[in-house]
Amino acid sequence: MALKYVCLLALACVCVYGKSSYKICVPSKYLKACQEMLDVPTKSKTQLECIAARDRVECLNYVQQRQADIVPVDPEDMYVASKIPNQDFVVIQEYRTKDEPDAPFRYEAVIVVHNDLPVNNLDQLKGLKSCHTGVNRNVGYKIPLTMLMKRAVFPKMNDHSISPKENELKALSTFFSQSCIVGKWSPDQKTNSAWKAQYSQLCALCEHPDKCDYPDNYSGYDGAIRCLATNGGQVAFTKVIYVRKFFGLPVGTIPAGTAEQSPDGFSYLCVDGSKVPVREKACSWAARPWQGLLAHNDVLAKLTPLREKIKQLAEAGASTKPQWFTGVLGLSEKIYHVADNIPIKPVDYLSKANYTEVIERGHGPPEPVVRMCVTSNVALEKCRAMSVFAFSRDIRPRLDCVQEASENDCLKSVQDNGSDLASVDDMRVASAAKKYNLHPVFHEVYGDAKTPNYAVAVVKKGTTYNKIEDLRGKRSCHNSYGTFSGLDAPLYYLINKNIIGHDQCIKNLGDFFSGGSCLPGVDKLQNNPKGEDVSKLKKQCSGDNSPLKCLQEDRGDVAFVSSADLSTLDSSQYELLCLNRPSGGRDSFSNNATCNIAMAPARTWLAAKDFLSDVSIAHTPLSLAQLLDSRTDLFNIYGEFLKNNNVIFTNAAKGLATTEKLDFEKFKQIHDVISSCDVA
Ligand SMILES: *[C@@H]1O[C@H](CO)[C@@H](O)[C@H](O)[C@H]1NC(C)=O
Ligand SMILES: *[C@@H]1O[C@H](CO)[C@@H](O)[C@H](O)[C@H]1NC(C)=O
Ligand SMILES: *[C@@H]1O[C@H](CO)[C@@H](O)[C@H](O)[C@H]1NC(C)=O
Repeated sequence: MALKYVCLLALACVCVYGKSSYKICVPSKYLKACQEMLDVPTKSKTQLECIAARDRVECLNYVQQRQADIVPVDPEDMYVASKIPNQDFVVIQEYRTKDEPDAPFRYEAVIVVHNDLPVNNLDQLKGLKSCHTGVNRNVGYKIPLTMLMKRAVFPKMNDHSISPKENELKALSTFFSQSCIVGKWSPDQKTNSAWKAQYSQLCALCEHPDKCDYPDNYSGYDGAIRCLATNGGQVAFTKVIYVRKFFGLPVGTIPAGTAEQSPDGFSYLCVDGSKVPVREKACSWAARPWQGLLAHNDVLAKLTPLREKIKQLAEAGASTKPQWFTGVLGLSEKIYHVADNIPIKPVDYLSKANYTEVIERGHGPPEPVVRMCVTSNVALEKCRAMSVFAFSRDIRPRLDCVQEASENDCLKSVQDNGSDLASVDDMRVASAAKKYNLHPVFHEVYGDAKTPNYAVAVVKKGTTYNKIEDLRGKRSCHNSYGTFSGLDAPLYYLINKNIIGHDQCIKNLGDFFSGGSCLPGVDKLQNNPKGEDVSKLKKQCSGDNSPLKCLQEDRGDVAFVSSADLSTLDSSQYELLCLNRPSGGRDSFSNNATCNIAMAPARTWLAAKDFLSDVSIAHTPLSLAQLLDSRTDLFNIYGEFLKNNNVIFTNAAKGLATTEKLDFEKFKQIHDVISSCDVA
């Protein structure tokens, strides 16, 4: 026994360290790129192996559990890593720019003022005209807010009757007399416009105050300095490298260039209130550290071959920048100078830059939270991962997770102020809202067009049906009993158009399609407790009862399905019947948003009437969805989670949207009609 143990240990050493092989973790979408990287010739004979994970968040867990050895990360991911229990991560290399290979940080946040500004302490910034890079950005927004809110003269931001973001905007517009802070202040367009009108001083210094969005000559790193130099600004929040470029001073390896302005009239304002001419070394209040390579502690035992290999790969890819260069190694157009640092824990790495307090920025106690209710252990785990990730990216209010035994318990919990959000699928949104006195706040959207789903009627090309009457006496295929697309939508349509009677509506449906139908589940006891004759609605069922199979096998003339189901059907052979159009007609699958029966209720999150404003509640999930929209490699919140389907979000979701787009009044109407004709 003892001998075997020794052998195993020795073997492990040989394979991990003797041959110097290391496992790099990659988001699965970059696995192929990673394998291409393995074929790139380098002087180093060190072997790398590609380990695919769902996304970077899962990669952190893989490294912590030793399923992988290294993963390239942003400073915010280092923060996420530092929150994993029992972690022993170390930052082993920094990714710097070719322009500034010796700079300690990616960018240092500075305050720039005119030399003659009569200010000798930060409290005196009150009442000045301020220039910023843009909303939610590091040096122009997050860092100034983090530092200013520590000062007693800065307005409090803990008014819980408005959202955290609005608290920030209100405080800034009270503290400064005029500003230019461009960008999307809210992921919700309506809220964004309302805030821009209410806090218009925050746009007054912009080139286009009415737009207050990109592009604006007074936004961005150099725009903030231009705003100070030529548009009446008194204080600018930006980063060192752009100050030097703007004033024509040399930066790192870049020689002095042409100045937009002479540097002579401008100084940095330091945290202690002193001023330093911009020609000299800058004083900063905080910095964003470089991105870097994160490893687990065991890698330290044999660091050199790994570091050499990474450096050689970075050099090999520098001129052509293939996909593995960015997707796998995490390098970029400008950032590809790989520097060895003294191995350091992620928390210490962030603290050196004063960046931990920037990430953990709050709004003053009690910090607001938004509580999401979930019903399984795996959903709880995902919710917690989303919470830390969103927090690391400055998304507030912080997400809290509450677990209850069932969907109904969650709805009850929201009603009783035990949580703020619970989700329901399909038509349950109407009954749940009614029963628990809740209202919808946001919902999932699907497909590349990011729309809700629609209930549609599919027919074979070459047939002659154009409107509902043409289908009388024909055969129909349906999504299962209880679904919106398969039953509720067609049934409501027929009743609402007075084509079938309201009493005994299920039987009437069978009579209308007198050629026979397949409505899976219609004969189950719970769906037909009175034992009515539903044989017509079972007549076309055989074998695989999916409505599309039923249509393909010519057991029906029309199929009632969801637009989400269309991707599996050949669009050259079938098309949609536009029952929503008064004149009927037909159209192709891709036009399902305008040719359908009705919009379908998506998975929807409900909140209680009054505990917390909808803007506050929706801000965190919508901001997270927006951030990850183009970056599923960071955190793929849709799709499988730990091999489970539809955890918190359905696998098919592609985004989240506020509920204006969904017609909930219509769903309520449909619900009332259907439930009064005795369909569960
Ligand atoms: C803003 O920039 C554009 C393009 O560089 C330039 O044509 C325009 O004159 C600038 N406007 C102001 C107010 O500086
Ligand atoms: C961190 O903060 C201190 C004092 O508040 C300041 O002196 C120092 O320059 C800051 N560090 C960075 C990297 O900006
Ligand atoms: C809802 O619950 C939260 C957290 O316990 C509490 O802070 C808040 O005051 C409650 N709101 C109402 C209206 O009871």
